[in-house]
Amino acid sequence: MKNRHLIDIKDFSKKEIDDLIKVANDIIDNRDKYSHKCDGKILATLFFEPSTRTRLSFESAMLRLGGKVLGFSEASSSSTAKGETLSDTIRVVGGYADIIAMRHPKEGAPTVAIKNSIVPIINAGDGGHNHPTQTLTDLLTISREKGRLDNLTIGLCGDLKFGRTVHSLITAMSRYKNITFILISPNELKLPDYMKEELEKNKIKYIETTNIEKYMNELDVLYMTRVQKERFFNEEDYLRLKDYYILTKDKLKTAQKNLIILHPLPRVTEIAKEVDDDKRAKYFEQAYNGVYIRMALILNLLEVK
Ligand code: NCD
Repeated sequence: MKNRHLIDIKDFSKKEIDDLIKVANDIIDNRDKYSHKCDGKILATLFFEPSTRTRLSFESAMLRLGGKVLGFSEASSSSTAKGETLSDTIRVVGGYADIIAMRHPKEGAPTVAIKNSIVPIINAGDGGHNHPTQTLTDLLTISREKGRLDNLTIGLCGDLKFGRTVHSLITAMSRYKNITFILISPNELKLPDYMKEELEKNKIKYIETTNIEKYMNELDVLYMTRVQKERFFNEEDYLRLKDYYILTKDKLKTAQKNLIILHPLPRVTEIAKEVDDDKRAKYFEQAYNGVYIRMALILNLLEVK
């Protein structure tokens, strides 16, 4: 039997994503029903790059399904430090676990990994490229909070160049009807050209701006992101750009009553703490939702009924 993987959000059709969202919602309402679905199964989390939320939410997801977890949280504590190739690591771990979630600093690393894998692989972030399970989390949150995934104006603000969560979210949302993207970033951190070409090819509306307040009143969703320090070549540029946007109550003055504010977290300075009390701030709910959608994904990839 051929294993199924999730490397790019497009590996799952819109219908399959809708089904994952349905299962995640059912898990939220009926947690007990799922608590032994993965008895006897093991998830390996191979994190060659730091993470708190993603790794722990994967582990929590498997534990809540009754399964077990093993893995490492930095490359330096794995045999990579001895010079082992990714392919060898993946091949070996496939014998120790039933499913692997991996994060790697190199774009495309998971595509290499699946070639040698005897178990399903989930991309938990590859460099500045993709982060499909964050996108599943975002889609679950948007659909729960807004009641729809069509007809939305979505502002994405911050590091649109290196932000992998932004890239996967735009790819995913581009498949829904009547979506407009407002791309808010400093000139140096604009969305990559290859992604804009894709939007143009698919006739999807987008506007680029450096001004966070200009289109605030039109937004249904505001997706804030951190400037991705680890992807910068020199510190000076990072220091100059890191506080470019700071969302405050004042900047939300013209925003709609039913706007939702999301952030994949970790937050640095881009959302002021005072915004946390605003009813429209949904980033902590978003982080909680990550566990449930990952539970749904693990069930799907392991073909558990
Ligand atoms: C994001 C990531 O790792 O890309 N975090 C996450 O997975 N929740 C966003 C970020 O690190 O800024």
